[in-house]
Amino acid sequence: MSSASLEGKRVVLVVTGGIAAYKACEVVRRLRDHRVIVRVAMTAAATRFVTPLTFAALSGQSVMTSLFAGERPEDIPHVRWAEWAELVCVAPATADFIAKMAHGVADDFPSTLYLANAAPTLVAPAMEDDMYRHAAVQRNLATLEQDDVATVGPATGSLASGRTGPGRMSEPDEIVAAALRTLRHGVINKDLDGQRVLITAGPTYEALDPVRGFTNRSSGRMGFELAREAVLRGGRVTLVAGPSRLAAPAGVELRSVQSAADMQREVLSAANESDVAILCAAVCDFTPLDPVDEKLKKGDRSCLDVAMVRTTDILATLGKSDPRPFLVGFAAESSDVRERTAEKMAGKNCDMMVGNRVQGAEVGMGGFDNEVVILDRQGGEERIERLPKPEVATRIWGAIGRYRERMNS
Ligand code: C5P
Repeated sequence: MSSASLEGKRVVLVVTGGIAAYKACEVVRRLRDHRVIVRVAMTAAATRFVTPLTFAALSGQSVMTSLFAGERPEDIPHVRWAEWAELVCVAPATADFIAKMAHGVADDFPSTLYLANAAPTLVAPAMEDDMYRHAAVQRNLATLEQDDVATVGPATGSLASGRTGPGRMSEPDEIVAAALRTLRHGVINKDLDGQRVLITAGPTYEALDPVRGFTNRSSGRMGFELAREAVLRGGRVTLVAGPSRLAAPAGVELRSVQSAADMQREVLSAANESDVAILCAAVCDFTPLDPVDEKLKKGDRSCLDVAMVRTTDILATLGKSDPRPFLVGFAAESSDVRERTAEKMAGKNCDMMVGNRVQGAEVGMGGFDNEVVILDRQGGEERIERLPKPEVATRIWGAIGRYRERMNS
């Protein structure tokens, strides 16, 4: 991820008293990897889980645990810290602290700092599943949403009690990704608030026999990052993904599929309920004509001919449907990227098309970075230089948001 632009950005990490406090140590470390300055504020309960000294050592800054730490009257540390912060991130956020935030209770350093601060705020809830489901907690989270506080997670997984369910704090990577995005943009952009977003990602797998098949080297990363960003912007996201090793971003409805035909089925069933669809998957263009149920034996043959048939072009099919969602396609090209992307946009009747050059293992399909050109039907063109995929996802949603706004005005 590009660190240069984030150097010196200022984050206050509020750590409250849950077992996930140990994961906040990793959040501090990773933010510091991006040269972000992190100050940690802890509730009294949090200090029972991890010592302030640990956070002081990791952050290289003094840690605040009390409202009354400043000796001099001009100190007013909660006000100073609130002015200093460009982002306040609460991780883990207990049910108790979420309740305080929602109701404006200010009875310790972190809660007072929260009220004094005008910077964007992120919370990463962490609690037992039945606490998380409780109407009071849900009400408080809804209040925070109205107050423009963004939520990361929680994830569903194993909880402190040993049970499994929703309430587990999102992983540090997820929290850091949300924090970095907010720092880059200054505000938490909620331009997809309440909209239904459909995204396809990853390769497809076309079976030849029970153990062999055809696929490609797509990792799914670009689509997963687009989904993660869409959730942060307030979208209700369905991600239809072919085989991928990546974990579903928190808050996304994941529909895992194998073949192009499976993907087509899921996409077409979700499409008429979607406001925006981004078809990012690297769908196999051909599938074996005659897959067999038993493992193929090599016998004594020296070569194998496999008859393949074309798969349905899901994007083009959606392009023809009426009504259809706002439609964005992807084009991976090895040459003449701009021209071919424009041709595909018209040919498949998309509103926008993101083109990228197929090059090496690091950029584009299968890589961590991408370098793209974004075209729209009005002749608009935006080039995005090589950047990590999370950042490219932010830029793509930015371009989509601006174009849709122009179309609607
Ligand atoms: O024609 P091409 O495969 O290059 O087009 C790429 C775009 O079309 C991508 O958005 C991809 O997700 C979509 N596509 C599709 N169904 C296919 C093939 C491609 O939706 N069978």
